[in-house]
Amino acid sequence: MKKKILVAGGTGYIGSHTTVELQNAGYEVVIIDDLSNSNIEVLDGIEKITGVRPIFIQLDLKDKEGTRKALAANPGIEGVILFAASKAVGESVKQPLKYYRNNITTLINILELMPEFNMKGIVFSSSCTVYGQPDPQNLPVTEEAPIKPALSPYGNTKQINEEIIHDTIHANAPFKSIILRYFNPIGAHPSAEIGELPNGVPQNLIPYLTQTAIGIRKELSVFGDDYNTPDGSCIRDYINVVDLAKAHVIAMDRMLNTNNEKIEIFNLGTGKGVSVLELIHTFEEATGVKVPYRIVGRREGDIEKVWANPAKANKVLGWTAQESLADTLKSAWNWQVKLREGGIQ
Ligand code: UD1
Repeated sequence: MKKKILVAGGTGYIGSHTTVELQNAGYEVVIIDDLSNSNIEVLDGIEKITGVRPIFIQLDLKDKEGTRKALAANPGIEGVILFAASKAVGESVKQPLKYYRNNITTLINILELMPEFNMKGIVFSSSCTVYGQPDPQNLPVTEEAPIKPALSPYGNTKQINEEIIHDTIHANAPFKSIILRYFNPIGAHPSAEIGELPNGVPQNLIPYLTQTAIGIRKELSVFGDDYNTPDGSCIRDYINVVDLAKAHVIAMDRMLNTNNEKIEIFNLGTGKGVSVLELIHTFEEATGVKVPYRIVGRREGDIEKVWANPAKANKVLGWTAQESLADTLKSAWNWQVKLREGGIQ
């Protein structure tokens, strides 16, 4: 029988790509999402790609009773992947309580409900933001690098949630957890049926870049060229979203089918640092489309450079990022073109 997985936040960017990979791997998926930052048509995209429409429940996971009812109505869920969270760094500085309430209440509700429904494992979406700006000797960053004080309430919720999971597991919770620390997920499914669809003006680099390339935005602002990096712009580790999604399937298989540790942490990145300017030029070469851009001042709170040492995920999970940056950027562009064809500006 197909194993059933709850994907909390499954209509979002990473959640939708992970739902596709779970279904391709033979899992049955139940999505709970309140659609606060995603859209119901994502389910059509998932169905077009996989031939299967996941079960969908529109619900705010802060509503514990509602969540309990939803789980009771869908018995037999063995594992949960928690994506559902607010994730805009800037907004979190302005509205910290929204972030603490959304991101922390949701996790606590799920952890409390897991034993009631005999769920065996939770994969948690964490972020490289927990490392802050790693000291030079810690680059590329391994999972052992020190956790630095968070620079935003968003980042703090990731740290706090990791601690909540640790404490709960150490208190002999009857389930396991795998914490995945993502670097910078980008790109879209190669079918262009699903991708990233931010509300309003994008805050992240790739959606802003593709919207500029297609003419929705006048120019891309490059936040700083006076950093201590080869070309002066910030360096990140950009990881293809489908590669990232596949790591979740492996993590879930591992928790449900092996005798792994009760809690494990993995960095998910390519291991390659890429600057903002390099990324723009790679996009232009890969797509043949020009990106008007201008260097502006630094963005407050930005980290100068961070990229992953993914050796632990490579070795223990048997997972390696496969897609090239050029192909990943092309997929982001194809998705942007598809959005325009669909009349979404
Ligand atoms: C941030 C968070 C990360 C979070 C992610 C998702 C930190 C340190 N990182 O990543 O944890 O998961 O957002 O929201 O809090 N840039 C420009 N012009 C733009 C936009 C971005 O030059 O218009 C540059 C930024 O300066 C940065 C790079 O592009 O160097 C990537 O920025 P972005 O996509 O916003 O991601 P992060 O800030 O790395």
